[in-house]
Amino acid sequence: MRICRRAEELTPFFGGEFVPTMGALHEGHLALVRRAKRERGITVVSIFVNPTQFGPGEDFEDYPRREEQDLRLLEKEEVDAVFLPRKEEVYPEDFATTVRVDRRLTGVLCGKYRPGHFDGVTTVVARLFGLVKPKRAYFGWKDAQQLIVVKKMVEDLALGIEIVPVETVREADGLALSSRNAYLDAEQRRRAAGIFRALSAGRGLAERGSCRAGDLLRRVREFLERDDLSPQYLELRTVKNLEEIRSDSVLEAAPDGEELLLATAVPLGKARLIDNLRFRAKIIRRTPAFEGERK
Ligand code: PAF
Repeated sequence: MRICRRAEELTPFFGGEFVPTMGALHEGHLALVRRAKRERGITVVSIFVNPTQFGPGEDFEDYPRREEQDLRLLEKEEVDAVFLPRKEEVYPEDFATTVRVDRRLTGVLCGKYRPGHFDGVTTVVARLFGLVKPKRAYFGWKDAQQLIVVKKMVEDLALGIEIVPVETVREADGLALSSRNAYLDAEQRRRAAGIFRALSAGRGLAERGSCRAGDLLRRVREFLERDDLSPQYLELRTVKNLEEIRSDSVLEAAPDGEELLLATAVPLGKARLIDNLRFRAKIIRRTPAFEGERK
């Protein structure tokens, strides 16, 4: 496994499979790597804690950094190259570009509470794509909004990179794996499993037949309250373009329906945990015409 600290060392690895990470690797990252390895191309993983996607007062300084352990894990997975750049390699002194995807995708959900976060993500991902020049890149559904935003950037800029989504990896009790789970104490860790229980209860309601979006969201909130969890946001949106599903819309379970994203962010101690579930439903929107028909 080659460790590349400078961009020019990446040339032999162009055109391969790319897994961008911020390190502190766990089974969720390794699932991305294993999915990439299935393509049998050259696999490159980057480890870079990107300062531009952290806002003031966020956890950039405290974000877990475990370079030696990460390298051991990647060696075991038989990754071909690890890109471990210094900040100056990613952002040279005269770097002057920001890549910004429309606010309709980046100003909602996490973007509403982390202003500028997705500009930092798209800028670093675009820069890393330019340095690594991959054929395919792998992103987890755990960060669904990031995946949707990066996909849109690649499409709009015709970057010619295939974005491969990979399912969220969970602990036995359902908690989605995240480097930030390391911030939780034992009591918080126990309560954190309530996030998956709550989202599953919401999805379960939708999958059972027909329900109002507002009732589904209420059910999720009730479950969160049982574990004394109060979400920063809890929303139902389309996967296609993150359009919000109004609470008075009726959802009818349908395998060929619209793919929906039930997403939440829950502050818990020093951590801010995000998670989501997807399901398909036909959406019956209550438009003025619809109201008229019912009179
Ligand atoms: O998901 C992450 O770890 C980061 O947001 C990414 C994609 C590596 C960009 O810094």
